[in-house]
Amino acid sequence: MSQPGFDGATVVVFESRMAEAMAKSVASHGGLAVTAPSMREVPLTDNPHAFEFARKLLAHELDVVIFMTGVGTRILFEALAMRLDLPQVLAALGSCTVVARGPKPLVVLREYRVPVTLTIPEPNTWREIVQALDESDRGIELDGKTVAIQEYGASNERLIQAITARGANVLPVPVYRWALPTDVAPLLRGIREIAEDRAQVAMFTNAAQVRHVLQVAAQHGLEAPLRKAMRRVVVASIGPTTTEALVAEGLPVDLEPSHPKMGVLIDEAAKASAELLRRKREVSSVSVTAPAADQVAANRRESLFLKACRREPTSATPIWLMRQAGRYMKSYRDLRNKVSFLELCKRPELAAEVTVSAAATLGVDAAILFSDILLIVEPLGLGLEYTPEDGPVIAGQIEGRRDVEGLCEIEPAESLAFVFEAVRQSRARLPSSLPLIGFSGAPFTLAAYVLEGGASKTFLHTKRLMYADPGAWHALMEKISRGIIKYLNGQIRAGVDAVQLFDSWVGCLGPCEYREFVLPHSRAIIQALAPGVPVLHFGTGTAAFLPEMREAGGDVIGVDFRVELDRAWDAIGHDRGIQGNLDPVVLCTTPEVIRTQARRILEQAAGRPGHVFNLGHGVLPATPVDHVTALIEMVHELSRR
Ligand code: CP3
Repeated sequence: MSQPGFDGATVVVFESRMAEAMAKSVASHGGLAVTAPSMREVPLTDNPHAFEFARKLLAHELDVVIFMTGVGTRILFEALAMRLDLPQVLAALGSCTVVARGPKPLVVLREYRVPVTLTIPEPNTWREIVQALDESDRGIELDGKTVAIQEYGASNERLIQAITARGANVLPVPVYRWALPTDVAPLLRGIREIAEDRAQVAMFTNAAQVRHVLQVAAQHGLEAPLRKAMRRVVVASIGPTTTEALVAEGLPVDLEPSHPKMGVLIDEAAKASAELLRRKREVSSVSVTAPAADQVAANRRESLFLKACRREPTSATPIWLMRQAGRYMKSYRDLRNKVSFLELCKRPELAAEVTVSAAATLGVDAAILFSDILLIVEPLGLGLEYTPEDGPVIAGQIEGRRDVEGLCEIEPAESLAFVFEAVRQSRARLPSSLPLIGFSGAPFTLAAYVLEGGASKTFLHTKRLMYADPGAWHALMEKISRGIIKYLNGQIRAGVDAVQLFDSWVGCLGPCEYREFVLPHSRAIIQALAPGVPVLHFGTGTAAFLPEMREAGGDVIGVDFRVELDRAWDAIGHDRGIQGNLDPVVLCTTPEVIRTQARRILEQAAGRPGHVFNLGHGVLPATPVDHVTALIEMVHELSRR
């Protein structure tokens, strides 16, 4: 009889406290669990930090208290109750700003009747905490304040750094300490199962596990084999914080469940691991004969484009063009005569073909994935169609909060898997030194498309919701943003080297509206992307709020042709890169005009590191292909240093 789910695969589980329950659940999904507890929780009932915290609290020396975990909060209160008058301590919390990192500490705080000032939204990482403090309408000013952080396990260094950077003193209050288990033999066995290729799945349920696993592997000379083997097994991570820890260690993450729960993790891993494993093995078997994967990645890192994204000096200015694959190319039109645009986007082998052939024909310094910003509309639960006359048309009217709440949560791992597959196939077929750019629409532009149902001149529906029902507006932006984060991180995992956010329609707003209704959301997205991957943040009509766009984030800010590149760069600041900004209409003139205009832009950039040459908007369908190739040659020639 065939086994369900894991189908007999060996699953290494690094969880400690719930190890047995997880092993049972893995077994009931047809897997063979190897429990490898990676940590021991040491309760610090005698914890001097807890009592120091209480002393300061009672002396009114604390301004903000952040409760990071439910278990830790409970232990802190129980420890204090052993020696102090707990109601008095809890009453003192009433005069502080009390922050609950998520639902679990919130439950405990409510139980103890502690008034909570701020609850942090999902995915509850340090970024959301800092953002909530920065943006709270209660105006939480941190400068000169003392912020206590209840810790359970390892300190969150990034949170401490971010709060210290805002001028506050941090008082860490550790109530539990993670230690290695007293007996590391089971952990070592789990590591060996992976390193010696006997396991098919590795499951991480906590960020601290990552460090412990690598530490024990290193102590036994197994770090390199383990790291290598992780490229061949399915690595499952319970949620964003754990994923961040894995990515920070340069380890792959193949699966993150739709909700950060152990049950969901096992369920979804059981369903997906056979297919994920097949794909991973396919890729790693290719790279055995290819040059070492690390070497290939290093080559690409030194490409003109990725160096410019990092604002490193380059031998010439890199160039790629928005909409470099499209109707102005005969081969594209021929293909489109056979398949619809949506089908082209949804068939990975065709999307990869268009991506690769456009980059090869043109000789650009980066390829951009062939896809469309509007593909995210269907996973929201709305209809999408491209008509020859009106362009994209979205079916399903969104008017108020009810409609917003009725939209689906975007789960790209399911609904946009074809995009990730197109990334993998494009990456496999592109020259190894050529970077591949992934992308998404920015939340404003996508929200505007959804609310207008298509193109618009006045943005009546969009702005009306924004002004008249800001709550519904922000709920819509947040829902879309959550989807974009998963979508872009998924593209990164699948192999893109940089990502671009297209905020094509944001120029219909003024600076105040941008700051209030857009900036927080674009910023949250950019901050939640995997570190080390450059972000290009593009908008049109943004001259009036370039400093705000910079504040929202991006390593490179993309500008259109309605601004002078040098003045735009001054406004953005030279500590960021800039992308742009030839008027696409120039490509429909003559080679002489193209040369003059390209030279003008290069002169404005003045050879400063961090300029990526591009158009100010996408290539127009009427553009002659040889004008495009001529531009690319001119930019390389004129900028050669
Ligand atoms: O740049 C590239 O070569 C990658 C592919 C890409 C497309 N669209 C292909 C496409 C990218 C990055 C986009 C982004 C996109 N899509 C944006 C942001 C950039 C911008 O132009 O502001 C926007 C607003 C869209 C939405 C969209 N898609 C519109 C308005 C249209 C119809 C109008 C038009 O230009 O055709 C599309 C369709 C579309 N997306 C086509 C292509 C090649 C043409 C479809 C066809 O073959 O008929």
